[in-house]
Amino acid sequence: MNNRENWTSRFGFIMAASGSAIGLGNIWRFPYITGTNGGAVFLLIYLAIVFLIGYPIIIAEMTIGRRTQKNPIGAFRALAPESPWWLVGALGVMSGFIILSFYSVVAGWAMAYIFKSISTFTVNTGFAEFFSTYISSLGEPIFWHAVFMLMTILIVSAGVVEGIQKIVKILMPLLFLIIVFLIIRSISLPGSMDGVNFYLKPDFSKITLQTFTDAISQSFFTLSLGMGTMITYGSYLSNKENINDSAAYVIFFDTLFAILAGFAIFPAVFALGFSPEAGPGLTFITLPAVFAEMPMGSIFGASFFILITIAALTSSISLLEVVVAYLVDEKSWTRKKASYIIGGIIFLTGIPTILGYSIWSDFRFLGMDILDTYDWFANSLFLPIGGLFISIYVGYIWKANNAIKEANKADGLILLGNWYAILIKYIAPAAIILILAINLWQTFAG
Ligand code: PHE
Repeated sequence: MNNRENWTSRFGFIMAASGSAIGLGNIWRFPYITGTNGGAVFLLIYLAIVFLIGYPIIIAEMTIGRRTQKNPIGAFRALAPESPWWLVGALGVMSGFIILSFYSVVAGWAMAYIFKSISTFTVNTGFAEFFSTYISSLGEPIFWHAVFMLMTILIVSAGVVEGIQKIVKILMPLLFLIIVFLIIRSISLPGSMDGVNFYLKPDFSKITLQTFTDAISQSFFTLSLGMGTMITYGSYLSNKENINDSAAYVIFFDTLFAILAGFAIFPAVFALGFSPEAGPGLTFITLPAVFAEMPMGSIFGASFFILITIAALTSSISLLEVVVAYLVDEKSWTRKKASYIIGGIIFLTGIPTILGYSIWSDFRFLGMDILDTYDWFANSLFLPIGGLFISIYVGYIWKANNAIKEANKADGLILLGNWYAILIKYIAPAAIILILAINLWQTFAG
């Protein structure tokens, strides 16, 4: 195991981990969840949860990863041999499978929309109908899902440094440029200030229990937490980096991107008189309509969907990497074999989410279609449960001071202090248990 690849620079690691974090969660999910939860007030609660739960857990994962130099299952086996803790890693590997199965399908929709923005959409397109007809077809969504999985496989099979690190160093700065370009366009539309107000002026009457449960699933999903992604990426981290600093950068960039996505979207939505409460369709129905009404809208529309595709790609490689790292470390598969075989299987497990909008549209689990069912199990259940066990493991079994020591192995701007123990032992687990309980109660009682 001593020839394990390492990120070759701190910039490389931070870009890879931020690339994992920044994805559909920021650009597709965050704006519509914020839109349906009243705007600014959701943003505030979300920020508090990111700090109180996301921050301690991302550090827990990165320290476990660097300490053990292993995938999530191997990491728990190494730290806690002869005990069932490896099951936390196994739940993570399974979550990676499930998330990528639907993630790639949604990313495929975005890829298709790049071309439709250029050649198909006009002001007269009925966007809601267009979207539902599109997703309930079979050939095109399956084709784009295949293309997206293939791109993911090619990068992961090329390796951590030659594949993942190389591509994120180019794509992440590009992502930033595209979003700034979109924000300038959005804010300069007449009437855009109403959108800015909705986004920045909190209306406290809009807080409900749902605000909290939505904020926690969002923070796990967007920071790629609870399934060992950051254990895996941390396992390629050299001892020369301070983990508190690296984690702070990743959280900063991820939050910045979510906030920027809101600035690209809400001003345009308000300026053109659409509702911010469109839900999951905000990205695929409302925004194309907004773009169609703008001068040079096809360019802005295509740029927006390129943005989503790039962001999704730097996340999907981290989802596949978790499963691949497990097979490479524990089962001695070659990276190439693991990438292609697992990528191929995930392509197949993604197909039901597409069929769920056509021939299997009668499928319902607790009222949800197949894609929402995958999403619910992964984001509302497995990630928070994984996060809960990770925080308990680090807080009580491995002990917080070992994580602190690991994080501070190299000097940094701000060292991790003893207060970390309070966050990881009490605050994070208690908050997760509370919100998980509310969530389950709402799902099964409602
Ligand atoms: N964080 C990614 C996003 O926001 C999704 C993701 C979740 C990636 C879990 C890896 C692990 O889109």
